[in-house]
Amino acid sequence: MAEIQKLEALEILDSRGNPTLAVTVTLADGTKATAKVPSGASTGKREAVELRDGDKARYGGKGVRKACAFVEGEMQRAVRGMDPCDQAALDARLCSLDGTPNKAQLGANAILGVSLGAARAAAIQRGVPLYAHLVSASEFLLPTPMLNVLNGGRHADNSVDFQEYMISPVGAPSFQDGLRSAVETFHALKSLLHAKGFSTAVGDEGGFAPQLKSNEQAVELILEAIHKAGYKPGEDIAVMLDPAASEFYDDGAYVFDKSDNSKHTPAEMIAFYKDWLRRYPEIWSLEDGIGEEDRTGWQQITKELGDRIQLVGDDNFVTNPALFREGIRDRIANAILIKLNQIGTVTETLECIAIAKENGYGAVISHRSGETDDTSIADLAVATGVGQIKTGSASRGERIAKYNRLLEIEKDLGAKARYAGATPYARWKGSHKPAEALVK
Ligand code: PGA
Ligand code: ZN
Repeated sequence: MAEIQKLEALEILDSRGNPTLAVTVTLADGTKATAKVPSGASTGKREAVELRDGDKARYGGKGVRKACAFVEGEMQRAVRGMDPCDQAALDARLCSLDGTPNKAQLGANAILGVSLGAARAAAIQRGVPLYAHLVSASEFLLPTPMLNVLNGGRHADNSVDFQEYMISPVGAPSFQDGLRSAVETFHALKSLLHAKGFSTAVGDEGGFAPQLKSNEQAVELILEAIHKAGYKPGEDIAVMLDPAASEFYDDGAYVFDKSDNSKHTPAEMIAFYKDWLRRYPEIWSLEDGIGEEDRTGWQQITKELGDRIQLVGDDNFVTNPALFREGIRDRIANAILIKLNQIGTVTETLECIAIAKENGYGAVISHRSGETDDTSIADLAVATGVGQIKTGSASRGERIAKYNRLLEIEKDLGAKARYAGATPYARWKGSHKPAEALVK
């Protein structure tokens, strides 16, 4: 394998018009590959540090020139001559060069650019697609997508407290068919919103952000759209939620400050979700239903709902192997959200997925609300076979790029591809069917 010869970093823009890095890795035989780094908005408190220049004269302080200089300076000197196929050694070198527990010195954005860029270069050099470079297998699982079609919370200027309302084509026979049914539902939702006089302008992740009256109305509209598109909610298409509850948790209480200003204790919040699951058995997955700082709330919801629905931890685990192990020990959640830039290296990301598998936790590969046209997460989802990906709605090029990449991979794999469909949720299947049985 040709060794790493050169690192170049360019300050580019993400889908929100904020600076981010494109890192190009050149190998000794001339092979070149580029990785582009995403950026979150509703970030977990313990995510690895995203290094910004802080120079208010440029991009309001959000420039990444320092991070770019680190890539081309000390990081290049540290990894030059290394084998790009030895991802673990490369990432270990980057982490020790940084020397902090949260990548505060060099920035997780700079480190991820190099880590992922090297993986992409190694794949090209080996003449295999990225997913096949990351794992060698004879069969691959195509992920069931979660499309965030209605937005609220801090991502939208409406009366909806919860951040993401997603649709997921769990009943389709293939990724291609699943994506089509979800996209048809997205279009049905658009005409429904239009007919009811709501705005169909889209938010950061390509979902609609209408001025809805309540949190319930979002679910009702999605269910209506699924019917309108000719599908059965909870059979063909399931509903998945990410309330991003850390955003409305304050001082021991959950405050619905966007809708009715009601205040809920953690116990009331759990009762709220139970009520929703009784009324809407089409909901199969709940991410960050509880705030990252409410540990006992997380333990309680896991105890009460963990055997009935997928409970995904995002802000509490932040794709950090140590925090994830701690959470498993404390019996919180039963699945983890995976975002490469929350931790900053490919190796630590893969480690989290391995921990999930060892402990019977699910895993959902995820984009960030600030994205680029980089499609590596599509390959990561296929390579790891976790069976789930959330990468936005059926609009905005940076979201569509990932779905298109998955279509390509499915075609390339042919008979070697299997669509995850409802399998990631199989263990809860019994409890999805009769709505009344769901809540005791
Ligand atoms: P973020 O949000 O990328 O803005 O952090 C996505 C999420 O909360 O899952
Ligand atoms: Zn989330």
